[in-house]
Amino acid sequence: MNIGICGAGTVSGGLVRLLSKNEQLLEARIGKPINIVQIGSRNKPSQPEFEAFAFTDDVFEVAKNPSVDVLIELIGGTDDALALVRMALQAGKSVVTANKALIAQHGEELFQLAEQQGQQLVFEAAVAGSIPIIKVMRESLAGNEIGAVVGIINGTTNFILSQMSKPGSTVSFEQALAEAQELGYAEADPTFDVEGLDAAHKLTILSAIAFGTRLSFDAIYTQGIGEVQVEDIRFAGELGYRLRHLGITRIGPDGVELRVHPTLIDENEMLAQVDDVMNAVMVLSDAASQTLHCGPGAGAGPTASSVLSDLVDLCRGATIPAMGFLPGQAVDLPVLGIEQCRSHFYLRLRVADRSGVLSRITRILGDFDISIEALLQKDPVNDIATIVITTDQVVEETMNTAIQKLESSGDVLESVTLIRIFDFGE
Ligand code: HSE
Repeated sequence: MNIGICGAGTVSGGLVRLLSKNEQLLEARIGKPINIVQIGSRNKPSQPEFEAFAFTDDVFEVAKNPSVDVLIELIGGTDDALALVRMALQAGKSVVTANKALIAQHGEELFQLAEQQGQQLVFEAAVAGSIPIIKVMRESLAGNEIGAVVGIINGTTNFILSQMSKPGSTVSFEQALAEAQELGYAEADPTFDVEGLDAAHKLTILSAIAFGTRLSFDAIYTQGIGEVQVEDIRFAGELGYRLRHLGITRIGPDGVELRVHPTLIDENEMLAQVDDVMNAVMVLSDAASQTLHCGPGAGAGPTASSVLSDLVDLCRGATIPAMGFLPGQAVDLPVLGIEQCRSHFYLRLRVADRSGVLSRITRILGDFDISIEALLQKDPVNDIATIVITTDQVVEETMNTAIQKLESSGDVLESVTLIRIFDFGE
């Protein structure tokens, strides 16, 4: 199998090293060598592992190279990458990519093109680095009806929240982000990670595979972690919750939930034990029940591992449908707006420290049929009391209306802080 690699960054370096280190193992597993015939990158790489291979500074040359059977797209972005993958497929090559944005935003077109061309477009490395979650859902769980997929699918945000959540921590979001950048976990421009876009791309892909729907990136609800306050992590901790930045997709009678946001989960849940830069994806299905898939979500070795697993599949002649359903079988299910989703909620209110406030607050929630599960009142500071309330499940639209009422009641002094709680049992 002759391959051309486009991109000469961290993952490409990891792939070249892995192909060399495990050459004999791979040959024993697939019966033929994998040869790198060309590497393309706008800038000539300085790393020594690339030196042995033919190089071009025009990645499109790799797509046109008749000796290349499979193109590995590791350039990232969605402009050149889209043109490159189109060109490779049109030239009769299969493509392996780690590009979540490309699949989430242009997958529909590209899978159709691959199908027309009789080629494969595979993308295990696009979601959660080393974790073989695409294959697990597409293959190992193929006998199941999947009800929900819930995951920590961005290592940077998980690291930041872990730092903010350490016992007694006073670390702010900004301080934790600076530490993530110092340690090389967060990009110099961390926007994609902390604002949740990276996770949104990944969740879009997981949702489509789970439910056989179209890729619905345009409809996803995305909220990052920039507003998270360490005191909320602490108060929620007192009530038995941990804060995670989760991607949640769940199917119900009215449509599909597709949302990425900071979420409180019970401290005993498996996902609550996943700290630092680790990723973990939980799949809830009818026969297998809850399965948790965990591992490093980024980095040279972990991502190269997934790229190479796709290459091995291609060498073995695997023709599993890319999204786990036969072409033409994708269904158009509505994606629910966030205000239509049901959640338990955590509310933090700053209120005037005077008699009758608590009863008026609980009465407003009662008027909206919102049931309180727990209530915490902190000692007043300067005549301002902090009240934390967790609620039973309610549609978010109702909760928002109740919050408006609370905020205009005269008792509540600041905007109410709201964090969604996810209950795995519902
Ligand atoms: N930047 C991502 C993360 C890895 O922090 O998890 C690549 O998607």
